[in-house]
Amino acid sequence: MGTSGNDSGAASPAGANALWGGRFEGGPAAVMAEINASIPFDKRMWRQDIAGSLAHVAMLSAKGIIDAGAAARIADGLRRIEAEYAAGGVPVDIAREDIHMTVESRLAELIGPDAGRLHTARSRNDQVATDFRLWVRDAIDGHLAAIRALAGVLAARALEHRETVLPGFTHLQVAQPVTLGHHLLAYVEMLKRDFGRFADARARLNQCPLGAAALAGTGFPIDRQQTAAALGFERPTANSLDSVSDRDFAIEYLTSAAQCALHLSRLAEEIILWASQPFGWVRLPDQWSTGSSIMPQKKNPDAAELVRGHSGRILGLMTGLMVTMKGLPLAYSKDMQDDKEPVFEAHDLLELSLAAMAGMMETIGFVPERMRASAASGFSTATDLADWLVREADVPFREAHHITGRAVKAAEEAGVQLDGLSLEALRGIDPRIDGQVFDVLSVEASVSSRTSLGGTAPARVKEAAETALREVPAWS
Ligand code: ARG
Repeated sequence: MGTSGNDSGAASPAGANALWGGRFEGGPAAVMAEINASIPFDKRMWRQDIAGSLAHVAMLSAKGIIDAGAAARIADGLRRIEAEYAAGGVPVDIAREDIHMTVESRLAELIGPDAGRLHTARSRNDQVATDFRLWVRDAIDGHLAAIRALAGVLAARALEHRETVLPGFTHLQVAQPVTLGHHLLAYVEMLKRDFGRFADARARLNQCPLGAAALAGTGFPIDRQQTAAALGFERPTANSLDSVSDRDFAIEYLTSAAQCALHLSRLAEEIILWASQPFGWVRLPDQWSTGSSIMPQKKNPDAAELVRGHSGRILGLMTGLMVTMKGLPLAYSKDMQDDKEPVFEAHDLLELSLAAMAGMMETIGFVPERMRASAASGFSTATDLADWLVREADVPFREAHHITGRAVKAAEEAGVQLDGLSLEALRGIDPRIDGQVFDVLSVEASVSSRTSLGGTAPARVKEAAETALREVPAWS
């Protein structure tokens, strides 16, 4: 039986679509069939499509809209199709257009004319909106778990390296020493907000469009509360036009994904930089790097580079769907069929990126000696000297800044760091300086002193890392 056959009970002429071909004399052009079909990609929503249909048919039966026997046969057929998909899929046939028509056509093959009752009080427009919300909801749940996992890895490495000192940069110039634990925990904060954005998007999308039908609702006495509850939605959507015409939930998913990918990209960029020989702050684990086909010595940070690269693609996918949607009048337009591929692609890219980042950060080797040597360069404790003058000699900060600038200049000329200047040299710059100043000029003293809330001191970082390790698994 071909897809245009009458096995579903429809009376269409040869070539016309069995599910909607009543007013057609012939079938579509080959290219029309191809441009029209979404089944090659929307088959990814088979689980959601079948779940939606099962909820719908149970409701139709409960409300007496179709009889219980037909409903049982439909549900039984749907479960068989579910098993077929689970066991390797149902053949793709572009004449069946999309996942909705593929499932319904297959149902007709399996159970005969009763299949035609499933689509009562429903349209593909509310069906696809429902399926897609369910799919995005599952996608978000996957990302939430992956973000928790990565944040947990970073928090553990932060606790381990609460005392490791490296230069903190501004303008990529050595600014002040910070602890590696503190640096890693900065990314835990970013991930926490990424988590929150996904969780917010999930809460907002969790309303059920099923029952909006094509665009105007239906005259059948349906129970939208029942289908919404059966599918785990918080409630039915309020407006049928909005239900079938907006894809802001998909866009919100993509903006959340783009923001998360952007954070991963910044971390990836730092790993790439730190792995570069002039830095030499990290050793790439073999499992997370590759070699060169010509240069035998090479070990390249490809995983990090691809995370950085993927973020660009995810940003593009987000922009793409926004542009698709921006000019569409209410309600459904076929342009909206183009909503799925960007979401699927962004999902796959982000899922890989989160997993790669977690694996890489768990095993990456930090090189504390190299980090410390860099941290001690660039007069990184100049602010500590200025602060000492303010605290110990009651010098106004602006003046202390100036005095310290002269000390930096003297050190630069002498080819030493600040703690390499003699006391005489320092007193020559300002006689209020005494020998106690050397207590604050080391990088260790510098970081240990920064105990303000949210500061880089090892004691603070220990608390923050322990808090994160305790709280991350409970992020919700
Ligand atoms: N495959 C379609 C999509 O993904 C389903 C909705 C089709 N609705 C319609 N009236 N043609 O958007």
